[in-house]
Amino acid sequence: MRGIIHILKRFLPPYKKYVSLAFIFNLLTAVLNVFSLATIIPILQVLFKVNTQTFEFIAWKGTDKAFIDVVLNNVNWYVTSLIETYGGSYTLMMLAIALIVMTLLKTASAYFGSYFIIPIRTGVVKDIRNNINDKILSLPLGFFSEERKGDILARISGDVNEVENSVMSSLDMLFKNPILIVIYLVTMTILSWQLTLFVLVVLPIMGFIMGRVGRNLKRSSFEAQNKWGELMSQVEETLSGLRIIKAFVAEDKISKRFHHGSNQFRRMSNRISRRQQLAHPMSELLGTITIAIVLWFGGSLILGNNSIIDAATFIYYLTIFYSIINPAKEFSRSAYAVQRGLASMERIDKILDAKNTITDPNVPIKLTFNKSINYKDVWFKYNNDWVIKGVNLTIEKGETVALVGQSGSGKSTMADILPRFYDIQKGGIFIDDTNIKDLKINELRSLMGNVNQDPILFNDTFYNNIAFGVKEASESQIIQAAKVANAHEFIMATEKGYLTNIGDRGGKLSGGQRQRISIARAILKNPEILILDEATSALDTDSERLVQEALDVLMKDRTTIIIAHRLSTIKNADKICVLKDGEIVESGKHETLYAQNGYYTKLCDMQGNLMTEESF
Ligand SMILES: Nc1ncnc2c1ncn2[C@@H]1O[C@H](COP(=O)(O)OP(=O)(O)OP(=O)(O)O)[C@@H](O)[C@H]1O
Ligand SMILES: [Mg+2]
Repeated sequence: MRGIIHILKRFLPPYKKYVSLAFIFNLLTAVLNVFSLATIIPILQVLFKVNTQTFEFIAWKGTDKAFIDVVLNNVNWYVTSLIETYGGSYTLMMLAIALIVMTLLKTASAYFGSYFIIPIRTGVVKDIRNNINDKILSLPLGFFSEERKGDILARISGDVNEVENSVMSSLDMLFKNPILIVIYLVTMTILSWQLTLFVLVVLPIMGFIMGRVGRNLKRSSFEAQNKWGELMSQVEETLSGLRIIKAFVAEDKISKRFHHGSNQFRRMSNRISRRQQLAHPMSELLGTITIAIVLWFGGSLILGNNSIIDAATFIYYLTIFYSIINPAKEFSRSAYAVQRGLASMERIDKILDAKNTITDPNVPIKLTFNKSINYKDVWFKYNNDWVIKGVNLTIEKGETVALVGQSGSGKSTMADILPRFYDIQKGGIFIDDTNIKDLKINELRSLMGNVNQDPILFNDTFYNNIAFGVKEASESQIIQAAKVANAHEFIMATEKGYLTNIGDRGGKLSGGQRQRISIARAILKNPEILILDEATSALDTDSERLVQEALDVLMKDRTTIIIAHRLSTIKNADKICVLKDGEIVESGKHETLYAQNGYYTKLCDMQGNLMTEESF
């Protein structure tokens, strides 16, 4: 219960208006229901001719009798006078019409009660969804190597859904059912406090039994949702790895793994749903038992003639009491749903409450970049092993620095820690003697343009993919950038030119085409610092030469960090740093390094053919 109130406190405030409207209409519904059921008293009295009493009209004002007695008396007076004047059958018809009108009002009001709860439900869910999305955008890259993508998708879809159901139920629970139950109990107390006292002893016993069934539900739900997350991760993997799965004929293996998880999830769902379904028959049975007890108890009192209540009123009393069963049943069912929702909320909160470790400094220093970038004794690790080990590196403004080394030596990592995609653990990176941790992250990242090892494109047009990194760009600028990146021709060859959609992650393009689009994007952004991580690795030698020419123009007088396997592409760099296991083992210009006959020479010679072809 505390959990759900906490959730509501967090998410309801923007919807206060709807909450009060729903509350008002639910209250109205309960009152109208009590009155519409009340028509049963005169109906029974007419049918069984039990009323031998005669009634006098009591003036509404200026009487010292209780209001409820006046109402009952005057209604009775009106009914008896109707019977006297028009006869029993006509009176019944009038009562039936009154019943219909009352019920119409009641159901209309109940409808409006739910009508105003709907925007609350959809609103809360929308807020949670948006919160997760924005949180994902703000969290550092490091967070996602541990949390699998499919699992996050499961949270955004499955768990938010669970919360939706539970929020909906809890709203009913908090705004509708208790109101109904309270109003009914009050009516019952007015009708006969003795019987009601008796009921109040029996009801809590029933609630206690119901509560026992609901235990453990939250735990099993949590486990089931985790399993669901796992399954979604697998689907995500299957989708992105379909090519490899087919190539290695691993369909069976993947299928088995999925079926296994899927079956486990099914078993868990069975257990949860069965337990939840138990709420319905349990409450019905227990409700009927209580009614039977009250029927027997009250009936004996009436039969025993020490009647505290007349027969017609007793039947009315029972109908009111019976009306409690439904909200009570809903109450218990929603209490179970809430358990599931709470489990999901916990999983969602693992994302929402995740601490963002890469944040802006409290007092940011104004960014300037006039002199240099400095890596000073930088140590970095992703998990347990140091990946960058005490690197010192100075990049003067306007210089092109190349990072070379074997696969896994830490080149991409060196480039990723500069825009603070990851924060280093020891040492510092400085731009013009200002630690990058003292800069505003957005300003820092705006300084740079990335062309990555695997180009990241979006399911959008060529045009928008190139214009992605800039606020405004004219068409001519975009075409110019595409021309420089040697992408204009193949773009124009597509059906709609720049307005052609490139598919999910650029799936409709070749690897080299993707790379050229991502180069065009960097060219358009025209950043002060250019980071090229294997920017041309997917191009054939011919297009590479064309793009390389374009990049050479771009790199001229611009600070550039370039990472390349093909050493021929970096031979003109102002400085080449050779990385080995996270350390810079050699650095200098190509000719001096090559002449040293060290590690770099070995790397070059391994690519011998290429080197000679490029006339070293
Ligand atoms: N997200 C990550 N989480 C954990 N470890 C990582 C992560 N990314 C890279 N590593 C590890 O860090 C080391 C350096 O990786 P990095 O990507 O910097 O190498 P690289 O020099 O760019 O290699 P390549 O030439 O193959 O691109 C590797 O041993 C790799 O296993
Ligand atoms: Mg790399």
